[in-house]
Amino acid sequence: MNLKNRSFLTLLDFKKEEIEYLLSLSFALKAKKKGLTHVKEVDGKLLEGKNIVLLFDKTSTRTRCSFEVAAHDEGASVTYLTNSQMGKKESLEDTAKVLGRLFDGIEYRGYEQKVVEDLALFSGVPVWNGLTDIDHPTQFLADMMTAMEHTGKGPDSIKFAYIGDGRNNVANALMIGCSILGSSYSVASPESLFPEPALLEKCRSAAAGSNGSITLTTDPFEAVKGADVIYTDIWCSMGEEDKMQERIELLKPYQVTMDLLKASGNDDVLFEHCLPSFHDLNTTIGKEVYEKFGLKEMEVSDEVFRSRHSVVFDEAENRMHTIKAVMVATLSDKLNY
Ligand code: CP
Ligand code: NVA
Repeated sequence: MNLKNRSFLTLLDFKKEEIEYLLSLSFALKAKKKGLTHVKEVDGKLLEGKNIVLLFDKTSTRTRCSFEVAAHDEGASVTYLTNSQMGKKESLEDTAKVLGRLFDGIEYRGYEQKVVEDLALFSGVPVWNGLTDIDHPTQFLADMMTAMEHTGKGPDSIKFAYIGDGRNNVANALMIGCSILGSSYSVASPESLFPEPALLEKCRSAAAGSNGSITLTTDPFEAVKGADVIYTDIWCSMGEEDKMQERIELLKPYQVTMDLLKASGNDDVLFEHCLPSFHDLNTTIGKEVYEKFGLKEMEVSDEVFRSRHSVVFDEAENRMHTIKAVMVATLSDKLNY
């Protein structure tokens, strides 16, 4: 498998075997970091001498830290950029050409998917999507890796049930990844938040080729039946903060509770969330929502979040191992995996 010099903009650009390879490399790199098993193909500093830039137009904890730690672990140097000239005093094209001269790889987090596409087009170096309004492909790798670790199953035997805003970046990435890998994916949302029809069609066609399945319903209790993993995300993504009242009204019946976990019929059902999460009142936004709307917890109850079912911190850790795999696969001169 050779993914050298490829950009990672959306999982739709990747074949089943390529995504499986990235997952397998993630497991090998995790084992290396933990000193558990020796996989000689991933020995050494795989990104030594490489320079990486991280461009963030939206806030981040996990994604930024994962790129930085992964790069440092493998010997690369990192520049973090939040206040670039891009799009303000300089065109995206010109900025991309400059970054391509200075850096070996570019990570971008922001709004439009076209920005990551144009960065890849004009920079001439691999570009990694660290989240846009419509996609979050590195998140999917961590979600799947965590599900595989905890269920002991392969992707084609895992059933994910996504509850809540069914057309946000995280839900889209999960639907795309599941459909390519042959997993079962059910989404429960109000109809107005169902996945976008054009993307749904692409995913349905991928699922037809992989023996996967995609089910849409407005009933969360229907969606979770037989699930291995129940997944949710915040109700207003970055850039949608003004929609809070409307989303609360729409999504209150979609809160992930212990009753919903029980409805899966699986005593060991897992709970996943990309994080950050509003599950208590220990955030400023959580407190504001409580004062305005009387809600103490939003997309998931604190009880579920802290329960034995919740694997959210393993999932957060796996962001680093999977992002490392993406950078190593697309950039390393030393990888023989
Ligand atoms: N899950 C995720 O992308 O987290 P951050 O927004 O903290 O990067
Ligand atoms: N859907 C969320 C994901 C955060 C990691 C957002 O875009 O804000």
